[in-house]
Formats: sequence, structure tokens, C-alpha cells
Amino acid sequence: MSYAGVLARYGHLLDLPQHTAPVSLLEGNTPLIPVPRLAQSLGGGVELFVKFEGLNPTGSFKDRGMTAAISEAAGRGAQAVICASTGNTAASAAAYAARAGMRAVVLIPEGKVAAGKLAGAVAHGAQVVQIKGSFDQALALVVEISKKLPLALVNSINPYRIEGQKTAAFEVCDALGQAPDWLCLPVGNAGNITAYWAGFQQYHISKNTALPHLLGVQAAGSAPLVLGQAVEHPETVATAIRIGRPARGEQALQAAEQSGGRIVAVSDRQILDMQLGLAREGIWVEPASAAGLAGLAQEINGGRIDVKGKIVVAVCTGHGLKDPDIVRESMEPPQVIPPELRALENLLLR
Ligand code: F0G
Repeated sequence: MSYAGVLARYGHLLDLPQHTAPVSLLEGNTPLIPVPRLAQSLGGGVELFVKFEGLNPTGSFKDRGMTAAISEAAGRGAQAVICASTGNTAASAAAYAARAGMRAVVLIPEGKVAAGKLAGAVAHGAQVVQIKGSFDQALALVVEISKKLPLALVNSINPYRIEGQKTAAFEVCDALGQAPDWLCLPVGNAGNITAYWAGFQQYHISKNTALPHLLGVQAAGSAPLVLGQAVEHPETVATAIRIGRPARGEQALQAAEQSGGRIVAVSDRQILDMQLGLAREGIWVEPASAAGLAGLAQEINGGRIDVKGKIVVAVCTGHGLKDPDIVRESMEPPQVIPPELRALENLLLR
């Protein structure tokens, strides 16, 4: 059987209206990659997997929810969609809207969106609007304008986004033949952790799988759910999760608590170190995507989580190609030599 995307595979398990008309780029079906060397660096004795969501069509997990949201909008005849974004939602909305023949408008915080995301949104023909302000301000604007103009809102406030993103939890359980003991992931606007929890709960009821503990991880400079209050001026190198007022914050806190997990914060240094650690195991992710594992390492090292004998899945939400500048900024630039054998030999023997 050929693979036809998350709605074809899991649509019967999703709460989508009758009028939904599938618009797909064959998203989902991403690999669950064992990372034994990283597991060893976390103390060993754990079966650790990366769910590499960067391998979706536009390079992030957003495509799972976007296929659902755009399919619903297309099915009721919507001609235009709008979203606020730190970048990945914008690129995904732009691609799926293009696929559906719809207009897409995306609002992004000026100067705070990684190059690969902005380029994607532009390439797919979206109208990209930069806001002199934060993601949170952009989100407030799109919520208001979508009430006034015929624009379908495709941020994760849209319930169909959550429905689509549940499929990642289904895939994890189907691939493992059970739920993991722990699942760690980055948290920004908190749609993804909400969706994973909904998906795991649904499988728990319908397939009797266990419920994992969820570890949600924010960047220390943008950690409203850890601080217990909104952050007016969020900052972090992980621009994808540079969010101070998560729309689904309450649900994220509930998911963490009900699962017997928690939400923690990690520094930019920890994020970049883990990004490097993953890259050295062959998996290049964007900074935000390394936050989940960075948080897991922190909790294990602090003796607050014991994963010995356990199965752990780390969700890596976006591809490293999204944010090439960060590598140039934080790592050594390549050496330059004249085109001479001696120069090359000298360099390699040094
Ligand atoms: N990882 C990446 C790579 C993201 O792009 C995002 C969110 C998250 C994690 C956090 O997911 O918001 O569901 O908690 N990016 C959004 C965007 C905000 O606009 O692309 P979340």
C-alpha cells in the first residue's frame, strides 16, 4: 500500500468535519531513530529514540496539523488563510495553501525568523508581513483580523491543527508497539504537547496502550509556563519557541501534570550543546528541536528523572536546514587553503 499522508492513514481517528477535503503533501510517517550514543551520554541503560519531525515535507512537524487545518478550510470553500508564526507554521501554511490554490498571509516577528523558514514562506507564494513586535503580538493581530475578514485562522488555536498533530503520538505507539515511558519535546505556543497528550490518551482508551510521562521544555528566556507568568520580551537562540504568552499554556500545564511529567526550562547554551550532540550522531535539527533532549539530560543529571530500563522518545520538531545561520555563528568556519597538494597535506597532518 502506498503512503498517502496522515489523513489517509489516521483520518478515521481524527475529529474532522464531514466537509473536509484532503490537501496533502504526504506528511508524517517520520522515522523513529535509535540514538544509542546519545543514550550512553545520558548515563546509559535507556532505549532512546528521536522522532525526527524535520523530515516532513516543509521540514517541521507543523505539516501534520496544517494538512488537517487546510483540508477543513478547503472543504468549506475558504479562499484565504492567515497565521502568526515564528517561522515553521508560516512555511507550512504557505505550502499547503499553495497546494490548495488558496491565498496565504503570514505574520512574523521582524528579524527573528530563521532564513530557511522565511525563504520557504516566500517561495510558496505567501504574503509575508513582518511585525515590529513579538510572535505574541502577531498572534493577537491575526485572531482579531480573522474575525473581521474572510481569512481562515490556521494557528494551533484552530482545533483541526491539534487533530492532525495527534497523528505523531499514534505513529510513535504504532512504531514501538507500545507507548514510550517518557516523551520529551520543546514547548512554544504549546499546541504540540497538547496534541501529543490528546493522541496518547486516545490510544490509551481505544488500544489500551499505557500513558507516557511528558517532559515539556522551554528556553529559559522564554519560559512563561515555568515562571508561572507571561514573559513580555521573550528571548532565546531557539527563535521557534521565542514565545511569552502560549495560547495553549493551560492545556500544556495540564498535560504535563496529568501525565506525571513536568515542564522545565533550559539555557541557550544547553540547547546549542544538544543540537551539536544530535548533529554528531547524524541528526541535524534546528535549535528549538534540541530543547526536549536538553531538558531530559538536565533532569536525568539532576536526579529528578530516572530512565534506566525505560523507553524514551525525544521529539525533534524541525530540520537543521531551517536555520543554517546558527551553525555559522556558533561553530568554527571552514579553513581556506590555496589549491596545492602540499597545503592540503600540511593541513591534514597538523
Ligand atoms: N519546535 C519548532 C521547530 C517549532 O517551530 C515550534 C513552534 C515548536 C517546537 C513549539 O511547538 O508551539 O506547538 O509548542 N513553532 C510555531 C511557529 C510557534 O510559528 O512555527 P508549539
